[in-house]
Amino acid sequence: MKSIELKIVRNSYGGRGIGHDHGKVVFVPFAVEGDHLQVEIFKECERYMEAKIVSELSFNPKRNGPIPCNEFGNCGGCDWQGIDIDQQILWKEEMLLDSFVRIGGFHSENLPKVQITKSPFQWSYRNRIMLKGKIEGGKISVGYLRRSSHEVVSITRCEIAGRIINLFLCDLKELTVDNSVRPVTFSMEIQEFPDCEDDTQSFVTVVILTQERREDLREVIESISRLSRVKWCGFREDATGRYFSLDSNTRWTQPGIFHQVNLLVNQRMRDYLFSKVHLRHQRVLDLYCGSGNLSMDLISSDRLIEGVEESDDAIECAKKMVVLRGASTQAHYRSQNVKSYLKDRIKKGDCAADLAILDPPRAGFKEIVPLLLRMKIPEMIIFSCDPTTLARDLKALKEVYRIEELLLFDLFPQTYHFETAVHLRCHT
Ligand SMILES: C[S@@+](CC[C@H](N)C(=O)[O-])C[C@H]1O[C@@H](n2cnc3c(N)ncnc32)[C@H](O)[C@@H]1O
Repeated sequence: MKSIELKIVRNSYGGRGIGHDHGKVVFVPFAVEGDHLQVEIFKECERYMEAKIVSELSFNPKRNGPIPCNEFGNCGGCDWQGIDIDQQILWKEEMLLDSFVRIGGFHSENLPKVQITKSPFQWSYRNRIMLKGKIEGGKISVGYLRRSSHEVVSITRCEIAGRIINLFLCDLKELTVDNSVRPVTFSMEIQEFPDCEDDTQSFVTVVILTQERREDLREVIESISRLSRVKWCGFREDATGRYFSLDSNTRWTQPGIFHQVNLLVNQRMRDYLFSKVHLRHQRVLDLYCGSGNLSMDLISSDRLIEGVEESDDAIECAKKMVVLRGASTQAHYRSQNVKSYLKDRIKKGDCAADLAILDPPRAGFKEIVPLLLRMKIPEMIIFSCDPTTLARDLKALKEVYRIEELLLFDLFPQTYHFETAVHLRCHT
């Protein structure tokens, strides 16, 4: 393997540092702009190389924060532990603007100033994590994948996960299961439900996902269910119809359905939406609505909310919350593919809506851009966890919509990930 000296000149969207060697781009995980490193090339392609850090010649001086995790650098979860949090946010803003300029074809001077919301907590902020698990010799081990690898890095705590999740991981480490259980692998989604008033009531739910011998895992599920912090553990499909409250019985979720992982920043996103919705918004679409997280607070007697989402379980959860709020006539959440829903509406000649909220998955909303261009909804507020697909889709809307506001929510400190929101207004 070739070893070279490398100056990292910028950060890629993807969390790797970028340098150049003999006209080729070199990607280095865990390296950041401003680092001067000795690196080892482990992959060389025609146009780029991949390398790993061997030693630092000088690090970016913004590497002045704590690195509390022993597995940082091995585990594929965090990219930027040790980097000053304001620097992390500055880089995220740069990545956002770079995507809009490079992919979206926007001119940076025409874009509104990015409004930034920091996470109140830089650590312990995740209320949900997904781990890989393995049972061997009567012990359960869990961990995250090593970067760009299928290898699992075992962990017994995670510094960005919530406190109750870590208490659970501590108990899990001590758990022994019947030695006769044959080796088996699975994924484990752990969600915490802290009770601020009485911590003894805080709990986790655990979803087990596997392609392997489920009968062997049944016994393991029973053992996990008996751990003191566990309120429910089971396979994904066994979760249907089981609801747990995220706060004082106003927000509900079900193990295994999508929910934002940083609840405090999620609240700021909802607050932003709330501040943007006025009396004139009488008919509001919530596309890719999950369990109604973004639109539930907008329900009011003089407004109709229509939410669309393809997960039946998420929609059942949304419907439960609507009933609890006694709002069945003001909010309709339906389980349908967003594209087929919009097509149906256009076919019926029903394009009327005052505002659309979009919160698509990482892949973006390209599939519905032509339909949105036909509907010409006067305002749209779009949330996205991937600025590159967002920029691509906004480019396709540019002729009809202009960006009024641009926001960055730091949902995921210590990683390169972040959430963007744009407020669009139809100008034709
Ligand atoms: C980023 S999540 C947003 C969920 C919700 N807005 C929230 O804040 O919790 C994206 C959601 O889109 C759903 N989804 C993905 N593709 C879809 C499609 N083609 N049609 C409908 N829903 C889809 C996923 O199931 C997921 O719940």
